[in-house]
Amino acid sequence: SRKIIIDTDPGVDDALAIIMAANSPELEVLGLTTVFGNVSVEQATTNALILSDFASYDIPVYKGEAVPMTRTPAPYADFVHGDDGFGNINWPVSNKQAQNQSAVDFIIEQVRKHPGEITLVPLGPLTNIARVLEKAPDIAGLVKEVVLMGGAARHCGNVSPVAEANIMGDPHAADKVFTADWPVVMIGLDVTSQVLLKQDDMQKIADKNPQQGEFLRQACDFYIDFYQQTLGIAGCMVHDPSTIAYLLDPTLFEIEEGRIRVVTEGLAVGQTTLAPGHRHFPYPGWENLPQQKVCMKVRSQALLDLVTSRLSA
Ligand code: BDR
Ligand code: CA
Repeated sequence: SRKIIIDTDPGVDDALAIIMAANSPELEVLGLTTVFGNVSVEQATTNALILSDFASYDIPVYKGEAVPMTRTPAPYADFVHGDDGFGNINWPVSNKQAQNQSAVDFIIEQVRKHPGEITLVPLGPLTNIARVLEKAPDIAGLVKEVVLMGGAARHCGNVSPVAEANIMGDPHAADKVFTADWPVVMIGLDVTSQVLLKQDDMQKIADKNPQQGEFLRQACDFYIDFYQQTLGIAGCMVHDPSTIAYLLDPTLFEIEEGRIRVVTEGLAVGQTTLAPGHRHFPYPGWENLPQQKVCMKVRSQALLDLVTSRLSA
């Protein structure tokens, strides 16, 4: 099975992604590393421990960065995910504790221990991942792949007309991650906004798999309500679980290659700028950047079926 480390700010859709990964025998989740984003890093760590208890095997939790590298922290997304990150359901906390090792040190240690084998799956702001590159530049050459949820290549943003929330959370970190010499797969709003999970789907999951599904159904209520109230759509976007779907079946997606940079200041801060790779002459200054993969289209129903089947198991 494929070894992954999930870097996360749980978060309702993070919860869906993590439980989906834990239920997938093709994947081995070595650890959850936490980061600020939807909630504080303290709350994210509390939540990751709750999620780790839903897995059938031991998944340790490592606390990560509390603030962005350079940018002033943005407010937490309590209006999307609730004050507790799980839609204000006040789920009982885990008896387990986070490990003493930091998220950054855990990632560096594991990647060196399993060279070429580990896939990083970031589901929040990219601060931990950029700190890893800063502290241990050799890591870029040792990671199998970075499959992240974030950005918007052609779709509009969700926290500004051009910026997606995870990238906006730490644009400097995101720019470091996209321009590092390692293979990145960007799964952003271009695809995640095309897949909606509805209240009915959650009810079916809860009926088939009450042990995990009842928690997920309750957590999704507030989140689905947010989409209804703010965007007038009946269902929540399947952001973070799309990364796990990609790991299980990349053929669900249509991919473009190109170089990606992130705007770190000004009106367009947080924008993921894609220079398409098929151009014969690269834009000046972009020649030496690595070509990354960007998911542009998705078979929505097939992705939804995969998500719901893994959550119902
Ligand atoms: C991303 O932002 C967070 O609110 C979600 O958990 C997801 O990772 C979507 O823009
Ligand atoms: Ca997230």
